[in-house]
Amino acid sequence: MSENDILQSLRNAALASIHEAKNSAQLDSIETQYLGRKGEITSQLRRIGSLPAEERKDFGQAVNDAKEAVDAAITARREALVSVEADAKFVDEAIDVTMPGRLWHTGRSHILVDTLQRIKEIFIGMGYEFVETPEIEDYKSNFEALNYPEEHPALDEQMSFYITDDTLLRTHTTAFQHQVMSNRKPPMRVATLGKCYRSDAVDATHSHTFHQVDCFTIDRGISMADLKGTIHQFAVEMFGREVNVRFRPDFFPFVEPGAEFSVTCIICGGDGCNVCKGSGFLELGGAGLIHPNILTAHGFDPEEYSGFAFGFGIERMPMLMYGIRDLRLFMENDMRFLRQL
Ligand code: DAH
Repeated sequence: MSENDILQSLRNAALASIHEAKNSAQLDSIETQYLGRKGEITSQLRRIGSLPAEERKDFGQAVNDAKEAVDAAITARREALVSVEADAKFVDEAIDVTMPGRLWHTGRSHILVDTLQRIKEIFIGMGYEFVETPEIEDYKSNFEALNYPEEHPALDEQMSFYITDDTLLRTHTTAFQHQVMSNRKPPMRVATLGKCYRSDAVDATHSHTFHQVDCFTIDRGISMADLKGTIHQFAVEMFGREVNVRFRPDFFPFVEPGAEFSVTCIICGGDGCNVCKGSGFLELGGAGLIHPNILTAHGFDPEEYSGFAFGFGIERMPMLMYGIRDLRLFMENDMRFLRQL
């Protein structure tokens, strides 16, 4: 092959690979390969010395031409690649604005917590102070100080979770009365709410753990009228203006007289349905005037002071309001249930 043919084939090979270069890094190495100080085309100049004198000028010229051509091709390809690379970058980083967004599950309070909070707000609005007393109570607070007779069925170990002979998980929030009455003087208007425990067989409407609220007032001249007014006001704020409250005689050792109270059925509005068993009312809780024995035992003269008390369970309210059929759902923390509310 003549020197010129070699040069020609180098030039063609260089142009072909420039044409095929996919990015500027490849162009850089092609440039070094052919045009660098020791590049294949650059090296051709060194052969000039071995050529006959009359060919040297032309060959030198041809090498320079080849260098210029290759250099120009590299420059042109580099410019073309700038936009190709930019396009590729756009494709790589493209976002599909029509794609559905990511769904964030935000946390929120449990339905029972919301209900407790609402109840608390209503009674605070009526001047009640909320206190916390232990869930583990002594026998005295839970029963004896509440005027339970020795042989009451609630004292049965079957019904209560005893921890020792003398301590148990409180079976009702009414147990808070003893501690509060032992530490204060009338007038007082105090409330508590929280968990209670009973050794019940668990089913859709019974749980070993449930929530109650309990309130009581002791002052001069307190009567059943104050009790009824308080519960009615609560029912109106909780269930709405149209609600009626019904009181019927009932027995609890710690009140005299004692009553059971109900509100207009929130399902049928009082017409009668299968939830209220046709009565038009839903039973909420127990109430009454604080038994004189209890006042006396805490050093309050029943001739001077009187008081009322009431308490009710919490779970029933959200069950009715949201049509929840199974009490166990409140404690199970099943997200499929919780997310619906
Ligand atoms: N502690 C009772 C229960 O668990 C409810 C109750 C009735 C509370 C009468 C009271 C009350 O404060 O006066 O069934």
